[in-house]
Amino acid sequence: MLAGKHILLIIGGGIAAFKSLDLIRRLRERGAVVTPVLTRAGEEFVTPLSVSALAGNKVFRDLFDLGDEAEMGHIQLSRIADLVVVAPATADLMAKMAQGLANDLASTLLLATDTPVLMAPAMNVRMWEHSATQRNLGTLKSDGISVVGPNDGDMACGEFGPGRMSEPLEIVAEIEGRLADGPLKGKRVLVTSGPTHEPIDPVRYIANRSSGAQGTAIGRALSALGADVVFVTGPADVAPPDGVQVIKVQTAQEMLEAVNGALPVDAAVFAAAVADWRVSSASDRKLKKSNDGLPVLTFAENPDILKTVSQMKKGRPGLVVGFAAETNDVIDNATAKRERKGCDWIVANDVSTGTGIMGGSENAVTLITADGSEDWPRMGKDAVAAKLAARITEALG
Ligand code: C5P
Repeated sequence: MLAGKHILLIIGGGIAAFKSLDLIRRLRERGAVVTPVLTRAGEEFVTPLSVSALAGNKVFRDLFDLGDEAEMGHIQLSRIADLVVVAPATADLMAKMAQGLANDLASTLLLATDTPVLMAPAMNVRMWEHSATQRNLGTLKSDGISVVGPNDGDMACGEFGPGRMSEPLEIVAEIEGRLADGPLKGKRVLVTSGPTHEPIDPVRYIANRSSGAQGTAIGRALSALGADVVFVTGPADVAPPDGVQVIKVQTAQEMLEAVNGALPVDAAVFAAAVADWRVSSASDRKLKKSNDGLPVLTFAENPDILKTVSQMKKGRPGLVVGFAAETNDVIDNATAKRERKGCDWIVANDVSTGTGIMGGSENAVTLITADGSEDWPRMGKDAVAAKLAARITEALG
């Protein structure tokens, strides 16, 4: 139910705008208060009168409307809601949002808001697949904007493919999910994920086989429980979770900087596979073959992010969870690691060849705490994430 929740609904100019009328009805049926904003292009598809009549509320349209400004300034309008929903989010609106343009009421509200934003894209399939739109989508996701759809199917323009706006009830379900007061509401949690890339020269680097799948699943599971997640990720194979703040880094040193910048947090989960060493002799020019023999790489130790945060005198997160990817004597090594690093829990797993865990979809972990160790059966990485998120919820009480 959405009783008493306030939705600021921005309706962009696309044929899917007709579905937004039904979306308004569905939201109001569930007790939500809807304040509609209609773009100029949106008015070509649905009338201000129908939007306003269905919303039972004034429809806002102009940035420079003195009457509206006197009644409720656009900054205030951007802050009143529990959630801002953009449906349909056209290619043009997405581009404006990604660039931070503010040349009409809708884009100004989106730039001024400090409220979470959910968008439901809708456009022609070629426009959706265009690299510009996909680039904007990536930017918007990194900015923490949640996305629902688009769906595949026949389009009003006669083509077929992804680009249809999600159905009103799908959007409602997503809104309910975002507004649900999960048990971690109000808690800020940091998650690191993915590998790091340590440069050898401008084109070569040292990496590892981490896909980022487990860290991403943990970020998603914590966010689903209502946590405010800061997700610091190296160059992973999988896309970061929706609706979280994403900070992308390459190296261990950059990861430490991003982690420091994200503190204070209530809990931190260090699932990233951070390189222990970086190449201290990294060259700013591409190394060339030469008759003088093979290049010699020298190494320097990387900062240990988990240890640094675990041993902070001031501002240490209430709960610090580390990972231990081991290939032998998993429990003994991981138990020793927990002590050495000073973290509260270690999630240990056996990544030796043949387990298929590193880069795979399943994980078999042992949770090591001050009270001892607990083997979890082999399960999907999403299930491990859900179980860990539930334990973190208990611990944060
Ligand atoms: O020492 P080891 O790399 O096995 O420890 C793994 C744990 O330590 C993981 O939680 C990983 O994210 C973290 N780690 C780190 N900084 C490093 C190396 C590992 O935070 N430089």
